[in-house]
Amino acid sequence: MTVSLTRHGAFAVVCVDHPPVNALSQAVRQGLWEMVGTLDALDDVLAVILICAGRTFIAGADVSEFGKPPLEPHLRDLVTRIETARKPWIAAIHGSALGGGFEIALTCRYRVALASASVGLPEVNLGIVPGAGGTVRTPRFAGIEAAVELVTTGKPVRAPKAKQMGLIDAVIEGDLLEGSLAFARTCDFVHLPALAQDRGSGAVEPDFWTTAEAALLKCVRGEEAPLRALACIKAATERSFAGALAFERETFLALRGSRQASAMRHVFFCERAAPRPSELNGVTPRPVRTVGVIGGGTMGAGIATACRDAGLPVILIEQDPSALGRGLANLSRIYDGAGTGGRISAQQAADKVRGVTGQTDMAALAEADLVIEAVFEDLAVKRDVFARLASHCRSDAILATNTSYLDPQRIFEGLPHPERFLALHFFSPAQVMTLLEIVPTAQTDPSVLAAGFALARVMNTIPVRAGICDGFIGNRMLKVLRAQAERVLLAGATPAAVDSAMRAFGQPMGPFEAQDLGGLDIAAFQRQAARERGETIFAPVAERLVALGRLGQKTQAGWYDYPGGSRQGQESAVVAKAIDEADSAASVPRRSWSESQIVDALVLPVVNEGARILAEGIAARACDIDLVAIHGYGFPRWLGGPMHWAQAEGLADVVARLETLAAEGLADPVCDGLRERSRTGEGF
Ligand code: 3HC
Ligand code: NAI
Repeated sequence: MTVSLTRHGAFAVVCVDHPPVNALSQAVRQGLWEMVGTLDALDDVLAVILICAGRTFIAGADVSEFGKPPLEPHLRDLVTRIETARKPWIAAIHGSALGGGFEIALTCRYRVALASASVGLPEVNLGIVPGAGGTVRTPRFAGIEAAVELVTTGKPVRAPKAKQMGLIDAVIEGDLLEGSLAFARTCDFVHLPALAQDRGSGAVEPDFWTTAEAALLKCVRGEEAPLRALACIKAATERSFAGALAFERETFLALRGSRQASAMRHVFFCERAAPRPSELNGVTPRPVRTVGVIGGGTMGAGIATACRDAGLPVILIEQDPSALGRGLANLSRIYDGAGTGGRISAQQAADKVRGVTGQTDMAALAEADLVIEAVFEDLAVKRDVFARLASHCRSDAILATNTSYLDPQRIFEGLPHPERFLALHFFSPAQVMTLLEIVPTAQTDPSVLAAGFALARVMNTIPVRAGICDGFIGNRMLKVLRAQAERVLLAGATPAAVDSAMRAFGQPMGPFEAQDLGGLDIAAFQRQAARERGETIFAPVAERLVALGRLGQKTQAGWYDYPGGSRQGQESAVVAKAIDEADSAASVPRRSWSESQIVDALVLPVVNEGARILAEGIAARACDIDLVAIHGYGFPRWLGGPMHWAQAEGLADVVARLETLAAEGLADPVCDGLRERSRTGEGF
């Protein structure tokens, strides 16, 4: 039974059991609807406890129903039915009460929750606003400011905080049902707490709304839902209860069919599909209980931190005692930053650092289950490291490289037990980024590949399987984006115009300011290595800047000038001259550029490259490319990733726009894969 009833004396217990997350599918709504009627008719029922089976309370509306015609009973009617039921309902929450699930809880007369539970309205993460009274009832329980925080960020809050905010009535210790029954026995069912509609929504200072909107505008970067959610809460304070519900409903319906909501639903399902590729069904991952990390530089220290955050003990190996000292200091610095930022306490930071053992002798890795190499990007150095690891580690230990561009197959060539090698490509800073590219070789055992996915799970990162090519999925697309950015410079755009256009598109930073922040030397080093591999490189302006010692913010000069160490870049005459020189060498005709033309010139070639990546089998699904762009490179989530974006633009249109760019010498020709998908209507 999806919705079942049991009796505990005068109390009725209604249990929703609809795996995996008790989402409000039609069957659940119907079951609850009927239950209200049944229980209202039973004279000996004093109150109703609404509880859920499985891992969570109701986690929200059923997102998979969003694209389909709505079926009765509608959620908005169900919440009113519970709110106005003859019998008082008590929501007993464990896991998460989210979206429609929390909206149901808000219409119960009381809410109790386990301390580990959380409640929230994450609808903005799906490009929508709450659709069943969340924006109208929340301010009436928690006040306007708290409601704005909860609804516009979409971040859930834990039960103890929810209690302080007035969103729940009690935190239950021990068994939830027992605790809820005990709570119910203390309730005065004659003098019930006021319904939301009978509560005031509070008041704020006159400039509250303009300030809140300005604050949101600074961070939403083109994302529509948070601003619309704010407008709903404002309406909740200015209109009648019914008027506010109607406004929320109108907004919900307008957004539900929007391009952004469709994109965010796409990302929601991609993210949930990513950790479970069908090829690994039934495969048991090799266990990973202890990790070795080789190299304590930027990546090694970050990877070690990410492992510690996942609760894994780490052995950090460096080449000599002084390098080891620097590596351990890098790691402590990361935790100092985290400690002062309030993410973890100084005590927790100290415990995490204590879980890292520093060594210079690889013999310390004899019992490690997984070793991740993060030494210099040099084939000979890496091969030497793995040859030594092969002799020190157990024959079933997993050995992984974090290489950016080298061919893992060549790194591991000739070593014994080839089935245990793979690449685990972390993104920088590894302890912050939420993406892991997992790259098996032709010999990697499925249990080793599965261990990579299991590691991503404990690290709370999105795993994407990638095939072997220069730069895997992410860096390969980045290379195209950067080359395109330089192409438009030669054709008359300025770095500031390019950065501004890409920010307007929704990227957190433009390509040039991002390079200045990270340092131009990293890419220069990679270009040098690629050149040595015989590849043709296109970075005529960047090469000139590096030759001039302009390496970015750290040298106070890169694509912009940073006088006096300012972090605010200023347009640079030196850069303009470098562009002129590169331009006269390449003789590209100059033109004026609108923001949308710049975006087309940068993003469409990335889509083209994505289509090639798919055709070559480097990515198994377009979804994976989208996840890499979103989690690795800040592609706006509300546009769904480059492949989803292209699909939404219309592939025929994308092909036509790319052809125009190619005809002007501003992009490579449209690849066969993209042309074919457009022609057949297969899409991505
Ligand atoms: N609808 C449909 N399916 C859902 C779902 C939902 N709201 N939430 C989760 N699922 C599915 C996932 O797709 C996944 O399915 P799969 O196993 O077939 O891949 C499965 O449930 C498990 O999901 P997770 O892997 O995310 O499970 P976790 O245990 O890690 O997390 C959770 C559980 C915290 C509930 C998380 O799933 C979550 O945050 N879900 C989204 C909640 C949400 O956004 N709710 C608001 C919906 S919109 C709404 O309610 C509108 C209303 O105002 C009208
Ligand atoms: P880094 O130069 O900061 O650190 C490399 C570290 O390896 C140094 O501390 C060095 O002492 C150590 N090392 C060198 N040889 C060693 C050996 N034989 N034994 C033990 N330690 C040794 O380099 P970074 O940036 O950390 O990069 C490491 C690897 O990660 C490279 O392959 C790089 O391509 C890759 N990578 C880098 C990213 C980045 O943004 N920096 C992102 C993703 C991957």
